[in-house]
Amino acid sequence: VTITRKLYGNTSGLKSSQVNGLERLYRRYLPKERVLSGEVAQTMVELSRNVKRQVGIIVDRKGTVHYVIVGDSSGLFIPELGRIRAGRGRFRGIRLIHTHLHGEPLSTDDFTDLSLLSFDLIVALDARPERNPLYMTAAHLLPMNPDHKLWEVLGPTPVHEFDLDFPEFIRELENEFSKKAESLSPEKGIERAVLVYLDDGRSDDPEWEIEELTELALSAGLQISDVVVQRRRPDRRYFIGRGRLRDIIVRTMQKEVDLLVFCPDLSAAQVKNIADLGDIRVIDRTQLILDIFAQRARSGDGKLQVELAQLRFLLPRLIGAGIAMSRLQGGIGGRGPGETKLESDRRRVHQRISSLEKQLKQLAARRKERRKRREKNQVPVVSIVGYTNAGKSTLLNTLTRARAVAENKLFATLDPFSKRLRFPRDREIILTDTVGFIRDLPADLKTAFKATLEELETADLLLHVVDASSPRAEEQLEAVEKLLAELDLAGTYRITVFNKMDLLQNGDLARNQAQRFSGVAVSALNRESLRPLVERIEDALWGIEPGESVEPYEAQSRSDDEKELRS
Ligand code: GTP
Repeated sequence: VTITRKLYGNTSGLKSSQVNGLERLYRRYLPKERVLSGEVAQTMVELSRNVKRQVGIIVDRKGTVHYVIVGDSSGLFIPELGRIRAGRGRFRGIRLIHTHLHGEPLSTDDFTDLSLLSFDLIVALDARPERNPLYMTAAHLLPMNPDHKLWEVLGPTPVHEFDLDFPEFIRELENEFSKKAESLSPEKGIERAVLVYLDDGRSDDPEWEIEELTELALSAGLQISDVVVQRRRPDRRYFIGRGRLRDIIVRTMQKEVDLLVFCPDLSAAQVKNIADLGDIRVIDRTQLILDIFAQRARSGDGKLQVELAQLRFLLPRLIGAGIAMSRLQGGIGGRGPGETKLESDRRRVHQRISSLEKQLKQLAARRKERRKRREKNQVPVVSIVGYTNAGKSTLLNTLTRARAVAENKLFATLDPFSKRLRFPRDREIILTDTVGFIRDLPADLKTAFKATLEELETADLLLHVVDASSPRAEEQLEAVEKLLAELDLAGTYRITVFNKMDLLQNGDLARNQAQRFSGVAVSALNRESLRPLVERIEDALWGIEPGESVEPYEAQSRSDDEKELRS
């Protein structure tokens, strides 16, 4: 362990002899089996009286002193602790021992530090001169309990009588915490999150945004512990305000929450401030979406694009906040670009970004080649677009019976995914699935998924799939149309496909809806229901000659990705 032997905190005006005395605390080792020794306590109290300021040390479980901190007469400011972590689960594996000049009881600040910084223990030594023997008070966090108590206070007790077997004590406490945690999330590796939504009057439909954030979080595989909605103007430093945020973080400790997810997005400074306030990972909506993309990226191309988007997103935060890459790894389950050291972080990120851009350019060129070949073959391209979770992959699957991931999670599709679909008279089309659209797609992501969207430029026909069973169907339809317009695709011919008919109690409703938008109502799960859609596709591409009857189509297996629809 490397220890910086520098004093932290309020050191101005100290005599050099006082500084030396305080610095000598770094050379003290505390006994492993006890919380502290009488001698160290005595030394700290004397030093504290001498400088008339609080004196604190931060000690790990081996008894090594990591920080010596000087406060003022009534408080102590804990420096940023970096990544010291010796404990399991939520505990950091370090404790704070500090003096109270006037023998005050543990303060609100003390309890806040205990929670926010995940200390094993916080100890206050009564430094009043007339106190003999020396008294101490300790506090530790409590696992969830019926009384909703957050911490337990031990003492005041004379230091020499405080004979807690510390290793045994902390082991048991950690066990209790993890037992409670298991009862909360029985599945291993599932991370728990608190969603924090700021309603600042900017959105006309905050409820939808909250719903969407919840779905995104579930889609990312998170377990949601709580959803907190705060109505106020955004706080420049702490987004929802320091007090509220502190309350949330204090509660997260007991509930074994791993991360806080904020919506709307945070500024670089807010990310840093919030991460500094408590020992908890912090991400926002864009990062959550990026994380989902990272989980779903299948092709090399897609993976590169996601990494590029992640780096581009993190870079300004790295520069703005001056914090190490590792602190920004909000990614769920530690996914995301690799951890690097601060000094070389920025340079490396820049290098990686240019290398990714180069690789992607090459891939884009190859894609162009492929497209050209297709155009030469004059095979029409039909692209499936739609709001995320609308059933695009399912539709592609059912139409082509190809294997593709269809999951009840947002963004099951990430990469351009193309299949051939054959019609009678040697007609065929290329059917491509695209990544799900969402509202307010962050600009970086639009760039990141250019590959998918590039495909759309050459599409002859778009199938716009709408989840007709969603109460938000029309808003989602509009959101997709808006994005298509932004992508200059408003002119491309499209068929609106109202999907999930089977979920609607009144199928007529969907059919009416479909009629209104001159669309087709289908259920992607039911191949038979797709017939009208197939006709529409044929009609749109080749035109059905008048009087030509449409025969029922039947699946006839040729190969995995090649099907004849009607024979
Ligand atoms: P992303 O790729 O995440 O944008 O999703 P997607 O639009 O490709 O949706 P996907 O095909 O993965 O389907 C999402 C969920 O809806 C899955 O659970 C499907 O089984 C379900 N689903 C799709 N079509 C239908 C349908 O017609 N009826 C019913 N009941 N469920 C459907």
